[in-house]
Amino acid sequence: MKRTLGAIALGLISMAPAHAATLYNTLDGEAPLIIAHRGASGYLPEHTLGGYELALQMGADVIEPDLQTTADGELVAMHDSTLDRTTNIEALFAPRNGGYRVSDFTLAEIKSLTVEPTGATASTSYDGFTPSMANPYRVPTFQEVMDLVSAYNATTGKQIGIYPEAKTPNSLAMNEKILQEMKANGFDGSVQNTFIQTFSHEGARQLADLQVEMGMDNAIAALGYAIDLGDGFGVYDATTGGVTALEDLAGFADGLGLYLGYDLDAAFIAAAHALGLTVHGWTFRPTSDEAAWDMFLPWIEAGMDGFFTDYSLRGVEVLDRYEASEVPVPATLPLMLAGLGGLAMLRRRRAAA
Ligand code: G3P
Ligand code: CA
Repeated sequence: MKRTLGAIALGLISMAPAHAATLYNTLDGEAPLIIAHRGASGYLPEHTLGGYELALQMGADVIEPDLQTTADGELVAMHDSTLDRTTNIEALFAPRNGGYRVSDFTLAEIKSLTVEPTGATASTSYDGFTPSMANPYRVPTFQEVMDLVSAYNATTGKQIGIYPEAKTPNSLAMNEKILQEMKANGFDGSVQNTFIQTFSHEGARQLADLQVEMGMDNAIAALGYAIDLGDGFGVYDATTGGVTALEDLAGFADGLGLYLGYDLDAAFIAAAHALGLTVHGWTFRPTSDEAAWDMFLPWIEAGMDGFFTDYSLRGVEVLDRYEASEVPVPATLPLMLAGLGGLAMLRRRRAAA
């Protein structure tokens, strides 16, 4: 188990070790992964080094950078294909080609921008957190994201993974560049919990083939929407409008990143697991701690393998609470019960005397 169990103070009573193996219904029996969706985007500006660093400190297992390509061919962490929703670009630049596409601006220009909070809860600060870098809320390059995670792993001895998403569907140039940069940074399949994801199922197949050519072995995740086909299950590919059967996906993918709606349920997850596919759901955006428990718990019980969440801390706390609530049966319980039975018999004898 990757996490420390919540405090269970039972003194000298020893625990039956076999219980931990049945705590989770995930494919590997381990705790589901907390995937920092766009960083700590429920607390700080999305896809920023400051946000990723906060997510690491909160205990996330995996950092998710969505990737776009600049005009000069550099990979940057950005969800949208345009810059105006999340940055101050409108105050600094005129539109190009009628808008603010990432692909119309150079890396140097994009580096001059500031990423701003979006959504109801994100802010420019988080109590008790001081970013370690000089400019925590600039648009990071993919290289900078990997530098941050690698440094964190080297410092802590942990194996935090990355989960880059190729946002240009089925682009050979983008997929090759993602893999080249990952390989150069040691993310060649040897860092635990590292996935490469795309909504394009053909793109996922292409990534799998490229990895073989490049001697890499990261897990590949195909994104989409769960579909119950009646005689089996599939995943809707939003980039083509088609549905790919789970059996076909299992031929080149290791996991699925699925929207928390459509036909996603425990039966779907069990079918994916039967084919060796992990299931990571998106997006967990609970607005309070109690809402987090209610939102995560059914998916924990359904055996989901990972949660894309804007609120890494809430995800970590839910798993801690779940583990603490699943109190292992003491190995000495039969002896205790036998002892209690003996005491009761003694009392009955004394009462009868
Ligand atoms: O990649 C999984 C999930 O992040 C998909 O949603 O739109 O936030 O990239 P999106
Ligand atoms: Ca994503």
